[in-house]
Amino acid sequence: MLKKSNHLRTLLTLLLIVVPLLVCSCAPKEGSVAEEKEQPESIGIISAMDNEVKLLLSEADIDHVDTIGGVDFHVGTLCGQPVVITRSGIGKVLSASAVTAMLNQYRISNVIFTGIAGGVGDDTEVLDEVIATRLVQHDYGTMNNDGFEWSDGNTGESVGEEGYYYCDDELVDLAYDAATEIIGEEHVFKGTIATGDQFVASEEYVETLQDNFDAIACEMEGASIAAVCTQYETPFVVIRAMSDKADGNAHESYDNMGDIAADNSSRIVIHILKSIK
Ligand code: ADE
Repeated sequence: MLKKSNHLRTLLTLLLIVVPLLVCSCAPKEGSVAEEKEQPESIGIISAMDNEVKLLLSEADIDHVDTIGGVDFHVGTLCGQPVVITRSGIGKVLSASAVTAMLNQYRISNVIFTGIAGGVGDDTEVLDEVIATRLVQHDYGTMNNDGFEWSDGNTGESVGEEGYYYCDDELVDLAYDAATEIIGEEHVFKGTIATGDQFVASEEYVETLQDNFDAIACEMEGASIAAVCTQYETPFVVIRAMSDKADGNAHESYDNMGDIAADNSSRIVIHILKSIK
């Protein structure tokens, strides 16, 4: 009898120690996802490089900066709109990682990717603007004995369609209207952007991108952003100014025109935010 009551006492003591510990470890911690979810719904703005977010950050009222996985998320307002602005780094991996962190950490209503690209095709000249209607990973596929064979990335029905990820129609229209006001209708195109982990500087590959994907621009982040946003069912659009023609002169053109092109895309984003006030 005495042994039994001792056991009972030990059990009760253990429960008194363990239960509060469990409750504490489950409660939201300062700065955790749960706390961040209290924030207003924000527009997520992502770019790959510093020059592509510079103008936006200089115009924004930033409340605070969260660093997640080494990536800075600038939380504040731009033109009165709640925004989260980040620079992901270059390429599909880093951009997918940044947009995933953003969508998990904040209440994001829409994602706008802004930056520069290589013009693919006869119409898109340097400093023209391309508003993506859809995006595709041009470098996804199989390397077999006959060379590279593209495939749709097993996107399936719920994520993308035959390898293409579609931008939100309303955002595309807003971006197109803003772009025509900022740089003139003759310099603005809507169409397919092809994304890959390569800087394209080849006339021959430009033809491949035109012929195989109907692309009018190429860059290194759009389709990965699009794939993640599609999975999270978050509307998105990709806005790109041409810094080069993705040809043999691409590097020189990129060096000379990249900053101007980046600012042009940022101006379009600012115009969009003003127009949805
Ligand atoms: N971004 C800007 N120009 C580019 C190019 N030619 N290829 C890939 N990404 C780019």
